[in-house]
Amino acid sequence: MSAMGDMSAMGHARHQDRMRSVTELRGPDTPDQGGAVRRFTLTARTATVTLSSGRRVSAWTFDGRVPGPPITAVQGDLVEVRLRNADISAGVTLHWHGYDVPSGEDGVPGLTQEAVMPGQEFVYRFRAEQAGTFWYHTHEVSDLGVRMGLYGTLVVTPRAAAPAGLDLTLPVHTFAGATVAGDHDRPIEQTVAAGTAVRLRLIDTDNDPHRFTLAGTPYRLVAVDGADLHEPGVLTRSALRLAAGGRYDLAFTMPAGGSVVLRVDDRTVALTLSSGAAATGQSPGADGASWPELDLTRYGTPAPTPFTARTPADRRFTLVLDRGLSLAGGRPLYAYTVNGDAFPDIPPQTVAEGDLVRFTVVNRGSDTHPWHLHGHRVLVLSRNGRAPTGSPLWLDTFDVRPGEVWEVAFRADNPGLWMNHCHNLGHADQGMVLHLAYE
Ligand code: C2O
Ligand code: CU
Repeated sequence: MSAMGDMSAMGHARHQDRMRSVTELRGPDTPDQGGAVRRFTLTARTATVTLSSGRRVSAWTFDGRVPGPPITAVQGDLVEVRLRNADISAGVTLHWHGYDVPSGEDGVPGLTQEAVMPGQEFVYRFRAEQAGTFWYHTHEVSDLGVRMGLYGTLVVTPRAAAPAGLDLTLPVHTFAGATVAGDHDRPIEQTVAAGTAVRLRLIDTDNDPHRFTLAGTPYRLVAVDGADLHEPGVLTRSALRLAAGGRYDLAFTMPAGGSVVLRVDDRTVALTLSSGAAATGQSPGADGASWPELDLTRYGTPAPTPFTARTPADRRFTLVLDRGLSLAGGRPLYAYTVNGDAFPDIPPQTVAEGDLVRFTVVNRGSDTHPWHLHGHRVLVLSRNGRAPTGSPLWLDTFDVRPGEVWEVAFRADNPGLWMNHCHNLGHADQGMVLHLAYE
């Protein structure tokens, strides 16, 4: 996605100027008071990876593993990640999905930096200001790169909170045709003492949504896209549909004498936690395919938000998503389009710092489009004309299904140049990308 295509000469010059100023919007180099410096080095290289079944697959990796090494920090820390590229000939970057880093740390080739080519390196620095579940991935030829394995998890824990007894981060990925949770293509099985507080962090690193069911215990969905929900209720026999790129944090207390089973798409058991002797009979949740999907906009207790659908917006945009013929590149090709155009012909959304920006996303096509804005978290104002009645929903990736209309808003408080795109990275590759630019 680094190719700028045949942008007009003037547009190109303006883009070059903007890019030059963005590359100077770098992160700080000290932690907050009391915070630590966390240093990581990730080396991108091709490797053969052995999955839990013993199956060997060739992959593009960070440090020879898929997913890459987990990056963890405590709120207030400085995170410093040295990215080295050994032999990924397509080039590589690190994008901190959902993390609102300064624009120059955002890892978008051709926009905030040049791709890191074999033999080169790039050092990212940002303060861990948001606590929650996030992930990182390459943004150079991102559809192929992420699919091949260039991704990992980023988890930031609050400084004050008591840690969960068991805190499991499970990125779910389709890898060489298998559903892989973490690096397991076979269920993860673990014994956990009854009464243990468990937090499960689910991440969808694929191009499609996944449906999750958790059986064997009541639980709460406590955070979405790294943002805590307000007074979430208790769930049983519910299915959670997670958008591509999105994250869910689940919390429960390990029950006595039973097992807790997490399934993906009703068929794959990803995780079994047992507190006692092996359970006899049917494993819980085998009937999960019939469980209703939780409506996030109705879940949790409402709480005040800094702005609502009635707050006057400084800017408004409408993005109509579809698939159609595009002339970008000179010959008609099918592309995924925004307002009839495909990248790089979609005009940028231009905002000023401090603006309250409202945008509507309309899906006229027959594919689902997980919409993702870099550098900002959006508040959902309405979905299909209905305002949420549950907890305020702050998302960085929202799943716009065929026929749907979502209205979201955000405060333009992170100057720079940002991607605003479909996180089905195949769709992004085929044009469904625009920029958000600060004037
Ligand atoms: Cu995970 Cu441009 O995004
Ligand atoms: Cu899409």
